[in-house]
Amino acid sequence: MSLLSETALPSQTPAESLPAHGAPAAQRPGSDHLYLVVVGHVDHGKSTLIGRLLFDTHSVPDGKAERIEAACKAEGMEFEYAFLLDALLEEQAQNITMDTTRVPFHTERRSFTIIDAPGHKEFLKNMITGAASADAAVLLVDAQEGLREQTRRHCFLLSLLGLRQIVVAVNKMDLVGYRPEVFDRIRAELGEFLGRLGVEPANFIPISAKHGEGLLRHSDRMPWYRGPTLLEVLEKFRANPPASGGPLRFSVQDVYRFDARRIIAGPVESGRISVGDPIEFVPGGKRSRVKSIETWPPENPPPRGPIGAGRQVAVTLEDELFVERGQVGAPLTDKPFEARTFTARVFWIHDKPLRSGELIPLKLGTQQAEARILGIQRTLDAVTLESGTGTTGEVKVHEVAEIRMRVRRPIAFDVGGKVPALGRFVLMRGRRIGGGGVIDSVVEEPPEARGVNPVSRSAILGHRGCIVWMTGLSGAGKSTLANALEQRLLNSGILSAVLDGDALRTGLSRNLGFTADDRSENLRRAAELAIHLANAGVVVIAALISPFRVDRAMAAERAKERGVPFAEIFVNAPLAECERRDPKQLYKKAREGMIPQFTGIDSPYEPPLAPDLEIRTDRESVDDSIGKLAELALGLARPSEQTGGGADI
Ligand code: ADX
Repeated sequence: MSLLSETALPSQTPAESLPAHGAPAAQRPGSDHLYLVVVGHVDHGKSTLIGRLLFDTHSVPDGKAERIEAACKAEGMEFEYAFLLDALLEEQAQNITMDTTRVPFHTERRSFTIIDAPGHKEFLKNMITGAASADAAVLLVDAQEGLREQTRRHCFLLSLLGLRQIVVAVNKMDLVGYRPEVFDRIRAELGEFLGRLGVEPANFIPISAKHGEGLLRHSDRMPWYRGPTLLEVLEKFRANPPASGGPLRFSVQDVYRFDARRIIAGPVESGRISVGDPIEFVPGGKRSRVKSIETWPPENPPPRGPIGAGRQVAVTLEDELFVERGQVGAPLTDKPFEARTFTARVFWIHDKPLRSGELIPLKLGTQQAEARILGIQRTLDAVTLESGTGTTGEVKVHEVAEIRMRVRRPIAFDVGGKVPALGRFVLMRGRRIGGGGVIDSVVEEPPEARGVNPVSRSAILGHRGCIVWMTGLSGAGKSTLANALEQRLLNSGILSAVLDGDALRTGLSRNLGFTADDRSENLRRAAELAIHLANAGVVVIAALISPFRVDRAMAAERAKERGVPFAEIFVNAPLAECERRDPKQLYKKAREGMIPQFTGIDSPYEPPLAPDLEIRTDRESVDDSIGKLAELALGLARPSEQTGGGADI
C-alpha cells in the first residue's frame, strides 16, 4: 500500500504525525459520493434522523436493529432510532479516535457519508480544519422549538464556509399535529435569515424522523406538502469535484532520514503527485523533482503515482533540499501565495475576546505561525446578524469579524476557496481553539518593508516603535503606571520598555544633578535613547518628572524630526496628595532641607498645557488608567499606510 498512515517509517514517527484528515474516509469512494453534514441545535433530533436514515435505507448491519430492539425491551425502554447510531458509533470509536465520525449509507441511486461532529466546538473545528469538508448540509430544526441561537450560528458557519447546498428539515412535525402553519412559520423565519446570509436552501421539508415521515416516503398526515422527500433532495445534490482536480498542494508534515535518504511525508491536500513531477516548496521557493514515492513496507515495483487529494504520501526528491514541516509542495506554474499580510473572516468561539493588536498562534494545514491582529474592520453577531463597526477593537464570543492580520514570517496559502484546505485556519487561545477563519485576500507589502529600516522592523514585529512620555510630580504614579502599561503591552505581544528617571540617573545620567541645566541635559539623553529604541521598533514608556515645558517640547520635536510617534501624558496628582503618599520619603527630606531643588517644593513643575492624555491618579484606578494608556499606545504603535503596515480601523 502506498499510504504511510498507521504503518509509518521507523524510529522517529510521533503518534501525532497522523493528520486528522488522513483518516480512513479521506479516500473518496467514487466521484458521485456525497459528503453530508447534519447541523442544528443539539436537541433537535439529529441522532434520530441519522439512525432512521440508516435503518430505512437498510444501511445497518443485519440483525443490529433487532438486537437493540430486544435490549430495549429487556430494559423496559422504548426503542429509539438514535440508539442505532450510538451503537454504530461505539463500534467505530473502538478503532478510530477522531472527533468526527463518519457514517456511511446508501440508496439505490447513490452512496453517502454523514460527517458527524458531536458538539458545536467540534463541528466548527472540523469544518474549519477541512477534516469535514462536506458537499452539502441538512439543517435540522425542531418544529416545536423553532429557530434557536445555535441554529442561527450553524447557518452562519455554513455560509461563512461557503457551503451552498443546504436542505432544511423541519423535524418533529408529529409533535405539532402536522399543522402546516407551524411549518410555514419556520420556513418564513429561517428563509429570511438565510436570505440575509446569501444562502438559499434547496428545499424546506416537514418531517418526523421518529416516524420515518418525509425521509424516504411522503406522509399521509401531511397531504398539504407536495415537495420532494429528504432523500430525493439529497440524491440530487451535486458532489463537489474531487479536490484531486485542483493544483497540487502537498503539506509537509514530517521529514524523515532513512538510510541516506530524506523522506518528505504529509497529506496531499489537493491535486495529485507522481514520480518525475517538478515541485517547488513554498515558502522558500526551493525546487526539485519527485524522485520516488516511498511506502512501508516497500512495494515492488515501487509506486509512481499519481497519489491524489485526501491521501498521505511520502516522497524523496532528486536534489538534497532542506525541506521542513509546514512548507507546501506545489507545481512551479500554480503555486499558493507566499505572504504575510492578509484579510480574513474569523468566527470567534472563545470567551476571552480576540483583540486588535493581539499576537496569537495560527495554524493552517501543517503550518504554524504567530499572527498579529492588525485591525478589525467589521464585526457581526452570528445570531442577530447585527453589525458592529469594529471600533471596539475586539471580537467577542460567537461574533464573526473581518480582520486584517499579519504573520511573523511568510506562510503558504490560497484564497477565495481555490484550495479550501489551504485557505482555512484556526487561531489558538492557549491550548484551545479560539476561532476559525477563512482567508479572503492577500495584502501587498510595500517595497520598503524589505530593507533594513523601521518599516521592515515593524513588518516583523507587527507594530512600530513610538514614545509614550509620562510627566508629573515625584510620587504622582508615573513608575507604577509605566510598569503596568509595559506589562499590558508585553502581554499583547507588543515589544515595550520603560525608561525610568530613577534608573537613568544611576547610569546614563549619573553625573547629573537637579539644576535646570542638568535636568535639561538628562532629558535630552533620555529623549535620544527613547528615539533610538523606538526606531528599533520598541514602544518606549518614559517615566520622567520632566518639569519644564521647554525640555518636553525639545523631546517631542526631536522625535518628530526622526519620524517617531510621540505622546505626552500628564500623570497628575495634586502636590499635597504626592506629599501625603511620599513613597520614597523624599518630600519629607526636602521639607527638612536635605534635598535642594526638589520639584514641587523649591523647584517648579510646569504642567503640560495640552497633553495628549491626562491621568488623575488621585481619582481613577490603575486599571482604568491602564485601559486609556494602552489604547493610546496601541494607536501610536499601529502601522500606518505610509509606513507600510496598512491602515486599519
Ligand atoms: S527630571 O527632573 O530630570 O526629569 P528624573 O525623572 O530624571 O527628573 O528623576 C527624578 C527622580 O530623581 C525622582 O523620582 C527622585 O527619586 C530623584 N530625585 C533626587 N533629587 C531630586 C530633586 N531635587 N528633584 C526631583 N527628583 C529628585
